Amino acid sequence: MSAPLQDTLARPLRDLRISVTDRCNFRCPYCMPEEIFGEGFPFQRRGEILSFEEIVRLARILVGLGAGKLRITGGEPLLRAQLPRLVAKLAALPGVQDLALTTNGVLLPRFAGALAEAGLHRVTISLDSLDAATFRRMSGGRGEAGAVLDGIAAAESAGLSPIKINCVVQRGVNDDQVVALARRFRGTGHVLRLIEFMDVGTTNAWNLAEVAPAREILQRIEAEFPLEPVAPNYPGEVARRYLYRDGGGEIGIIASVSQPFCGDCSRARLSADGRLFTCLFAAEGRDLKTPLRAGASDSELREQIAGTWRRRRDRYSEERAARSPASPRKVEMFQIGG
Ligand code: GTP
Ligand code: 5AD
Ligand code: SF4
Ligand code: SF4
Repeated sequence: MSAPLQDTLARPLRDLRISVTDRCNFRCPYCMPEEIFGEGFPFQRRGEILSFEEIVRLARILVGLGAGKLRITGGEPLLRAQLPRLVAKLAALPGVQDLALTTNGVLLPRFAGALAEAGLHRVTISLDSLDAATFRRMSGGRGEAGAVLDGIAAAESAGLSPIKINCVVQRGVNDDQVVALARRFRGTGHVLRLIEFMDVGTTNAWNLAEVAPAREILQRIEAEFPLEPVAPNYPGEVARRYLYRDGGGEIGIIASVSQPFCGDCSRARLSADGRLFTCLFAAEGRDLKTPLRAGASDSELREQIAGTWRRRRDRYSEERAARSPASPRKVEMFQIGG
């Protein structure tokens, strides 16, 4: 047995996020603003993105290196044709302990059953507001909160649980919605997670004044529903967990800006076009598609991936405060998922 794979900060590789498309049916201004990602935007073409067979080959190698937790993301992953076929292949890989999908939810009424049948364990659904007008604004005019609630119901019926609901909180946009969201999902068994608005990518016009810090979000909720903190489910969990003291279930807060968690970040990300990123804020990914298509063997690919991880020193969120202005070149979130 070789020594377990670790990066320069002794962090293991445990988690792989696989983006299957850079396209999305929403245009959330904090991720893919309409003015930039309009009609003519050159999204990746079919031949440029990895086939399911190529994704599975790389995933098998990464799982073998320790990434037993897989998450399928996008863009919006349900826009990728025949996604349940990929789910079935990933679910069958030896060593996969957790197989989740991040989605905006609107296509779940169509696909939840097939995804569950193919072996998907659970889904995480983004929902930024229950208020119709705020939701429309935050989806770039493309979505309806009611359609996402239908998606959540479909996931529930299909047994894709525990279901997590992700809400990106933007001060002055939807920070007044968090208590209503908490109320709506208390007692449902679903876990609402409130996420600090981050400076991912280069197009979302991020500024610190629009970040509602975790402390403030918690205070709002705590004022209505007393909470108690609980320990993480697993090492490196990004959400801080809280239970409602009255037994109403669990809620999470993801304080990526005010309390960064790079110290035990064990996540690698594979873009739809086959680049391996070792940080959400990286400028470059390691191109695996070229060697893959040039006929590299599994052991050659394994060496390239392991070498990339061993050299990894990313800790962007912890360095953010010291780094001003921010790096001008960063991958976009919709290219590598959340
Ligand atoms: P579980 O497996 O259910 O615990 O999922 P998770 O909480 O790890 O993943 P999810 O994809 O739902 O992450 C929620 C949000 O946390 C993302 O949308 C990001 O905003 C943020 N996030 C996740 N991973 C990272 C990371 O590695 N770095 C930073 N800065 N933020 C992250
Ligand atoms: N800050 C925080 N979270 C973000 N997401 C997308 N862009 C950002 C951002 N700028 C989240 C979405 C979704 C997941 C895919 O990533 O809300 O839950
Ligand atoms: Fe699409 Fe999700 Fe980005 Fe919104 S946050 S544009 S739903 S990928
Ligand atoms: Fe990991 Fe980079 Fe996020 Fe830090 S900023 S937690 S290193 S992905």
